[in-house]
Amino acid sequence: MKNKSSKIGRNALCPCGSGKKYKNCCRNMKKELSVKETYKQQYDIIIKTPKQIEGIRRAGVLLMQIMDGVEKMIRPGLVTEEINTFVHEQTIRAGAIPAPLNYRGFPKSVCVSINEVICHGIPGDRILMDGDIVNVDITPILDGYYADASKTFFVGTPGPDAQRIVSIAANALKKGIETVAPGATLGDVGHAIQHYAEGLGCSVVREFVGHGVGIDFHEQPQVLHFGSPGKGVVLVPGMVFTIEPMINLGKKELHVLPDKWTAVTNDGSLSAQFEQTILVTEQGYESLTPYTL
Ligand code: MF3
Ligand code: CO
Ligand code: CO
Repeated sequence: MKNKSSKIGRNALCPCGSGKKYKNCCRNMKKELSVKETYKQQYDIIIKTPKQIEGIRRAGVLLMQIMDGVEKMIRPGLVTEEINTFVHEQTIRAGAIPAPLNYRGFPKSVCVSINEVICHGIPGDRILMDGDIVNVDITPILDGYYADASKTFFVGTPGPDAQRIVSIAANALKKGIETVAPGATLGDVGHAIQHYAEGLGCSVVREFVGHGVGIDFHEQPQVLHFGSPGKGVVLVPGMVFTIEPMINLGKKELHVLPDKWTAVTNDGSLSAQFEQTILVTEQGYESLTPYTL
């Protein structure tokens, strides 16, 4: 038989000596600890502490300063290597580390993906041309904390296809972010993105996904950009993850070039991407890499 007397009543005085009721004091801490422990044990998801969140937010501020600098550089004739040099130097100058450099053998400090390149483009001697679209994906590590974000820019004057895919990719991320709140699920996020992009005749890349981020580059959970409402992990405050839909103007199929990194659309159609690092809050969400979509 259970010994009832060993359980502390909700309305009893808290044993910690605070003078408060147990339900308003340590019972809550026990409850919160257990959400954190449950997410760690069940999903390997790290629910972040306020201190960790502040660290990731600071990395995000640095990231967006660098991103704004990149945006000012973008013009026809720019060599993608110059974007790498800028991102690398600005990151180091701030006392941070560019996470992509040597990550699983990636040779540069930033990903630069042009036109039909979906993601993981390697900067080098390619020159930006008038009418191109170019995604720049930046991930600094500041004081041990990671923030991850990307934007797709127009080079010179965009044609109608470029305008269409960049606008749809930006709105797809916006729809995903606006779904984030405690009690919503990752399936809700994926569905919002997929429903929007496919509804406009575009396709959603399946092979690359968003991810938990902050203490490491790629943490659990995986954040799919497609899915079903109500399915998947339930969001709780303190979760930090990226949403980074890659949207193709044509079909979703892709292949990776012999450099083992550059992912391109099979049909050669344009692909665009936007990414932000998102914190789940009590009220909904906060972007730790905020910019207007
Ligand atoms: N920043 C990318 C992401 O959003 C990952 C790039 S991995 C690299 O997850 F090695 F290519 F840098
Ligand atoms: Co990412
Ligand atoms: Co990224």
